[in-house]
Amino acid sequence: MHRKDPHYTQAKKNGYRARSVYKLLDIQKKFNIFKRAFYILDLGSAPGSWLQISRKFAEENIKKYQDQYYHRDHFKIMGVDIKNISPIDDIKTLKIDINHPEFQNEIDNFFQFKKLDLILSDASINKSGNKFSDQIRQIRLCYRIIEIVKNNLKYKGVLVLKAFQGQDIDNLINSMKNEFKFVKSYKPQASKKQSNEIYLIGLMKK
Ligand SMILES: C[S@@+](CC[C@H](N)C(=O)[O-])C[C@H]1O[C@@H](n2cnc3c(N)ncnc32)[C@H](O)[C@@H]1O
Repeated sequence: MHRKDPHYTQAKKNGYRARSVYKLLDIQKKFNIFKRAFYILDLGSAPGSWLQISRKFAEENIKKYQDQYYHRDHFKIMGVDIKNISPIDDIKTLKIDINHPEFQNEIDNFFQFKKLDLILSDASINKSGNKFSDQIRQIRLCYRIIEIVKNNLKYKGVLVLKAFQGQDIDNLINSMKNEFKFVKSYKPQASKKQSNEIYLIGLMKK
């Protein structure tokens, strides 16, 4: 984050923990990912701005959707990172590597084996500076996340997944197409122009 970056300044002013909040808000505006989202898993959450937004929408959804269609009277949100996440009210935060075999048990315990409405991943590998190998490592992380999605996301659920453009992204998109009816790739306005990051949005899990 940079002090001269307008998104950074705006995030600070509005009490958000990171400028990445504006990427998520942009994605929400375009794809309405939080519609009827009550059970949410956020992967790579630190410092936690996506969790702040998730809570806001989940809280609103409780009041907004009280009809005969799918709704819940409570929400459950879990945020996970290898780094420490400062506590946020009403949200379960967990310090674990999402590749760790114990992670699935943590998900099962917290969500009580219920399927999730929305999985978010802004998880990003520690960049080495070598764009080629970084991209491959990021894509490998994305495949792990698709495994998590297969096991935990509900029918018609939604995924937001951060990837890096480059080799093998087409294969990744094809893997997502096996799981979702619609897959879109999107570069939010708040994403830095020079960055090769791209968000893949999976809509309507099969
Ligand atoms: C760009 S930051 C996320 C920012 C967050 N969305 C927010 O709004 O505050 C990416 C995060 O992914 C985490 N991460 C990377 N690999 C991970 C892994 N294998 N397991 C858990 N977290 C991981 C990093 O530690 C880092 O904190």
